[in-house]
Amino acid sequence: MEIISTVAGLREAVANARKDGKRIGLVPTMGALHDGHMSLVTKAKSDCEFVVVSVFVNPTQFNNPDDLRTYPRTVDADCARLEAAGVDVAFVPTVEEIYPEPDTRVFDLGPVAEVMEGAMRPGHFNGVAQIVSKLFAMVEPDKAYFGEKDYQQIAVIRRMATLEGFDIDIVDCPIKREADGLAMSSRNVRLSADQRAIAPQIHKELADSLDLVGKLEPGEVAAKVTERINAVPGMEVEYYQIVDAETLQPAADWSRPTVGCVTVWMGDVRLIDNIKYKAVAQA
Ligand code: PAF
Repeated sequence: MEIISTVAGLREAVANARKDGKRIGLVPTMGALHDGHMSLVTKAKSDCEFVVVSVFVNPTQFNNPDDLRTYPRTVDADCARLEAAGVDVAFVPTVEEIYPEPDTRVFDLGPVAEVMEGAMRPGHFNGVAQIVSKLFAMVEPDKAYFGEKDYQQIAVIRRMATLEGFDIDIVDCPIKREADGLAMSSRNVRLSADQRAIAPQIHKELADSLDLVGKLEPGEVAAKVTERINAVPGMEVEYYQIVDAETLQPAADWSRPTVGCVTVWMGDVRLIDNIKYKAVAQA
């Protein structure tokens, strides 16, 4: 595996692979790799002959300076894992390499970016669009892989790709969970032992709510899940919304596939998770 830190080096490595007729897969990450990321790498390797993984904590998508400061950084361990997984290139640039000058682009990301994370974290999705569009332009991959834990992020990236005319197959990969159900996240390492012990309750409440589909309205289910999670000491729901799986606008009924998206604060750690609800015929 080559560890590359310059855009010129990255372009050259990818151009050589393309010359050899290889399909290029890109897995963008912010490092602190866990098994969830590695499942994207496995999928990329099964689809493509040349896999690039970027490891870059992108400052423009953090609307909270403390979150950026405390975001876990484990580059050496990340590269060792990527090498063992048979990745071809780990792209590990500096902030100056990616942003030689401030990125002032503002993307028209539309309604998918206005709700939930978009409403709670102003500027976050514009920052995601900035970095992912740069990576797409640098690598020009055939396929790019993203985890469904950040369900809304995938919709935003699809929108950005359409706006910018990228002809890239965006592949969503299922959430990877710990054995006790907690969604894998780089932020989990910041939980105390006590917080970690109760954190799986988030997924349990979401999973239990699957039984309520068709019995209660989506808004009522969301209120119930919120109440149940808030009843767990040390947990505070920022939002739980059940939205149309495609438009991400609040669902009025169960006639179409929906997704329940949650954000929970445990102390100063912000965890997100989601669950898919099946559509049911309306009475
Ligand atoms: O999901 C992430 O880790 C980041 O938002 C991404 C897509 C790598 C962009 O920085």
